[in-house]
Amino acid sequence: MLSKIEEYLQKERGRHLEELKEFVGIPSISSSTAHRPDMKRAAEWLAAAMRKAGLEHVEVMQTDGHPVVYGDWLHAPGKPTALVYGHYDVQPPDPVDQWETPPFEPVIRDNKLYGRGATDDKAQLYVHVKTAEAFLQAGGGLPVNLKFCIEGEEEIGSPHLQPFLEAHREKMRADLIAISDGPMHSEDQPSICCGLRGMCALELTVRGAKTDLHSGLYGGGVANPATALVQLLSTMHDREGRVTVAGFYDKVHELPDAEKESLGRLTFDEDRLSRELGVPGLFGEKGYSFLERTSVRPTLEINGIYGGYQGEDIKTIIPSSATAKISCRLVDDQDPEEIMRRIQEHIAAHRPEGVTVEIKPMHGGKPYVISPGHPYIRAAESAYREGFGKPPVFIRSGGSIPIVQVFSGLLDAPVIMMDLGLPDENLHAPNEHFHLENFDRGVRTLCRFWQEISRQGFRQNRMCGDNGLPS
Ligand code: BES
Ligand code: MN
Ligand code: MN
Repeated sequence: MLSKIEEYLQKERGRHLEELKEFVGIPSISSSTAHRPDMKRAAEWLAAAMRKAGLEHVEVMQTDGHPVVYGDWLHAPGKPTALVYGHYDVQPPDPVDQWETPPFEPVIRDNKLYGRGATDDKAQLYVHVKTAEAFLQAGGGLPVNLKFCIEGEEEIGSPHLQPFLEAHREKMRADLIAISDGPMHSEDQPSICCGLRGMCALELTVRGAKTDLHSGLYGGGVANPATALVQLLSTMHDREGRVTVAGFYDKVHELPDAEKESLGRLTFDEDRLSRELGVPGLFGEKGYSFLERTSVRPTLEINGIYGGYQGEDIKTIIPSSATAKISCRLVDDQDPEEIMRRIQEHIAAHRPEGVTVEIKPMHGGKPYVISPGHPYIRAAESAYREGFGKPPVFIRSGGSIPIVQVFSGLLDAPVIMMDLGLPDENLHAPNEHFHLENFDRGVRTLCRFWQEISRQGFRQNRMCGDNGLPS
């Protein structure tokens, strides 16, 4: 039967890519109120594509924010039900002048599709839609029951998805959740993601006088909020890249030897990466490799810092305020609320004199891990082996999809992350793209994955083994 499906995919490939270009061409920027109509357009476009694929009960479901697109096919009695999650919203395209071609006029160059949202997450979620289409149009049906839940607010922290899932829990009920929304290890090494970092983000504003002040009249006599802010920020790390917020590492575990070894075995050229990134050298917490620092260690990063005069020449003022945006990546048992509290305590203890400090908590989400020994992960492993022609390795990703932990808890089901992107595809950056060979390999991999899940049948949810075996 797979040969019929492959034939169908070959025949339809041109049309599929044209459709994908249409999808990537819709500027569905969730953070921008000006793009609200585009959000609706993207949701409706996706719903139409899902209907055309042969999915049923397709619906654009309203939330208090951007809509969720739902669809299902539930005609595999006695077989597991999988829920595919993805997001049709994208990051803003700026800085727009650094794009080689306009961000929302997708083009294919060198078998790569360029456009904002190409890899994050439109092409990756589209692979799931096309896999379903291939089974339904050429394979006589799917080997499992399938539901789609595609949201439009992932890039803004999914503020309305949890209440939505709580309200529609029965409708979303599934034996596993499948997500393709991240990069694999490298171009020639497919991987399965067995963990995501959590997140704790905040905005920190330091305030001084009611208005900007002339720095000649007042300089030396009042605290400067910009100076105070950088002083405060500089207390958050030591020189060796460790976070110095008290208690920050309390719930972080050392990586089990087996996992440390398997991470160490992955080929990774740190010098080459430095060159590619254009940095004089990599930097981070002492005692850990780049791969460890960016996947299994927690971080605290300043994402933005501003205040005072930003225009041409110089303006001699003492700014009235200065702001930093900060986000932490969390691992293991670090809890976003507890980390927020720790940071608040740190700020209170280090608050510079003569200014006030205001903290605005932003996104949060817990880390997620699944044992590489979970039977459904094994199913993914054999699917990748065939789809990519090479056995995948197990890694943890440094990124965050905060809703993943919510999904697994609310539906009591394992989340299987079938990443199809690559790390150098410029997600969130100018010239974002997606390697189209992974479109083809991805569909092949997912076809085999659904067959393998169907063969395995129902499995218990087994989380977090630290020895590579289900606990
Ligand atoms: N697809 C990414 C998550 C991701 C990135 C997973 C890299 C694995 C590796 C997702 O769209 C994303 O950007 N998430 C945000 C979450 C935030 C907005 C709450 C992130 O990781 O910064
Ligand atoms: Mn994403
Ligand atoms: Mn993203």
